[in-house]
Amino acid sequence: MKYNYKDLGLSNTKEMFKHANENGYAVPAFNFNNMEMMQAIVEGCAEMGSPVILQCSTGARTYMGKETVPMLAMAAVKIARSMGSDIPIALHLDHGPSLEAIKDCIDYGFSSVMIDGSHYDFEKNIAISKEAAEYAHKFDVTVEAELGVLAGVEDDVVADEHVFTQPEEVEEFVSRTGVDSLAIAIGTSHGAHKFKPGTDPKLKHEILSEIETKIPGFPIVLHGSSAVPQEFVATIKEFGGELKDAIGIPDSELRGATKSAVAKINVDTDGRLAFTAGVREVFGTKPGEFDPRKYLGNGKSKMKNYYKTKIANVFGSEGAYKKGTM
Ligand code: G3H
Ligand code: 13P
Ligand code: ZN
Repeated sequence: MKYNYKDLGLSNTKEMFKHANENGYAVPAFNFNNMEMMQAIVEGCAEMGSPVILQCSTGARTYMGKETVPMLAMAAVKIARSMGSDIPIALHLDHGPSLEAIKDCIDYGFSSVMIDGSHYDFEKNIAISKEAAEYAHKFDVTVEAELGVLAGVEDDVVADEHVFTQPEEVEEFVSRTGVDSLAIAIGTSHGAHKFKPGTDPKLKHEILSEIETKIPGFPIVLHGSSAVPQEFVATIKEFGGELKDAIGIPDSELRGATKSAVAKINVDTDGRLAFTAGVREVFGTKPGEFDPRKYLGNGKSKMKNYYKTKIANVFGSEGAYKKGTM
């Protein structure tokens, strides 16, 4: 093992999820692709006193480099501590494709991993999720698996394209795999194009409630939960960007879920939109600007402010970790 997550100051998600479920909030899992996004996330969460999961996809890991990712995560811990904040911080592999990928991430400082077997049949999903959990647990790394399929990233997503999680399958799945948390499909979807403008997006809250009765207290994860803030879409378009008209998951649809066993909510697209709006705004209003600190700095600042608002309005995790309460 090259970097043990504990030496980097990181935490796994076990205590985080327990605390979240006991206190009626959800832990934000925000994806990052570079240093400025990591800073936006950790500064925002530390200022709000919210625990945070720094989430890194396989593509993001390839982009940043496997040596860089653990150093950025360690820097995140140091930034929070230098701000006087005790928030726990996890480094989590998003949508881990295989056991090999998971082993490599554990070797390089990840404290939590997802094994995404959602596209396999039930038995194969159980087999690979169990294998991942048995391996990761030897290193005190927590594991998220997924049951049910979210609709695709592209195009006009309609509810029929989802394969909603079957509540009658969840108990068997978690007991046979031994995973620590379960991502479910109740109508969220990945990317910026979730629902047509003018529609009234609704999640399948009844499926969530049924799942909760089958596995009481077990940490549930929601992927694809970006709101696609129209202010960022408008700014991007105003300054030359091209985006299809679309809306995301309304805050009101998520807020109730955080009060239940939903312990982790994944948001990536909103951060990308905020960051891009910030960069485009500088390019659009100051065409002579070529200092990366100016345009990346504006991207970072928009992302940070948006996430602080989202923590207050959606996650309910504000103040969950005040200094000295861990
Ligand atoms: O769920 C997918 C995440 O938004 C990561 O996206 O693979 O483009 O980094 P990515
Ligand atoms: P969004 O595309 O809605 O931000 O979802 C992100 C996600 O689920 C990452 O795993
Ligand atoms: Zn996802």
